[in-house]
Amino acid sequence: MRPKIILYIAMSKDGYIASENDNLDFLNKYHIPNEDYGYTAFMERVGCVIVGRRTYDKVLNMGFPYHENKMVYVLTRDNKRTEKMNLIFINQDIKSLIHSIQLEKDEVIYCDGGAEIAHVFLKENLIDEIIISIVPEVLRSGTELFRNGEIPSNFKLEAKLEFSSGLIQYHFLNEYNQTV
Ligand SMILES: NC(=O)c1ccc[n+]([C@@H]2O[C@H](COP(=O)([O-])OP(=O)(O)OC[C@H]3O[C@@H](n4cnc5c(N)ncnc54)[C@H](OP(=O)(O)O)[C@@H]3O)[C@@H](O)[C@H]2O)c1
Repeated sequence: MRPKIILYIAMSKDGYIASENDNLDFLNKYHIPNEDYGYTAFMERVGCVIVGRRTYDKVLNMGFPYHENKMVYVLTRDNKRTEKMNLIFINQDIKSLIHSIQLEKDEVIYCDGGAEIAHVFLKENLIDEIIISIVPEVLRSGTELFRNGEIPSNFKLEAKLEFSSGLIQYHFLNEYNQTV
């Protein structure tokens, strides 16, 4: 049995996770004191993070560390190397990577995206849950998360949380994967 995989991501109401040139400013006003939208609690369940190379670079370029206290797999087709013990640049079939990952009971794999990596996982039906925070912003262009703008139909809404900032967080379960 493989670990559970959760796509945890924020999106504009018209379906974008970044505006042109990887700009994330549309999320700024939702970063408010004393409200992390459940992120800390989610991270406590996370055993490792899988992320696309472009998202990883974006976080570093913004001046932030990237989950230094977790095992991190950065998907890339390049031959990158690192000295860091808990960071692996990897170009491997995603299914075989997932099946090689050993986590503690109840720990989950956090799929951090971006859109390319989310598609890789979705194509293989490897996402078990989607926790998506939708902010009431319209970007009109940028990096679209779901190709037709909609969450795939096999994901069923489990919960919806509304926050005073206007952000709405939806929790979807993959009905095809209920036995994992
Ligand atoms: N709003 C949010 O919550 C949120 C979350 C995550 C990301 N983002 C934003 O989304 C944007 C990045 O998303 P993106 O879709 O452009 O890129 P991405 O998914 O982060 O990364 C794409 C890269 O992953 C590698 N890759 C893709 N498929 C692969 C495969 N099958 N095997 C191995 N490597 C593979 C390639 O790296 P190489 O080019 O190195 O080969 C590719 O260029 C950024 O602006 C980021 O800030 C937003």
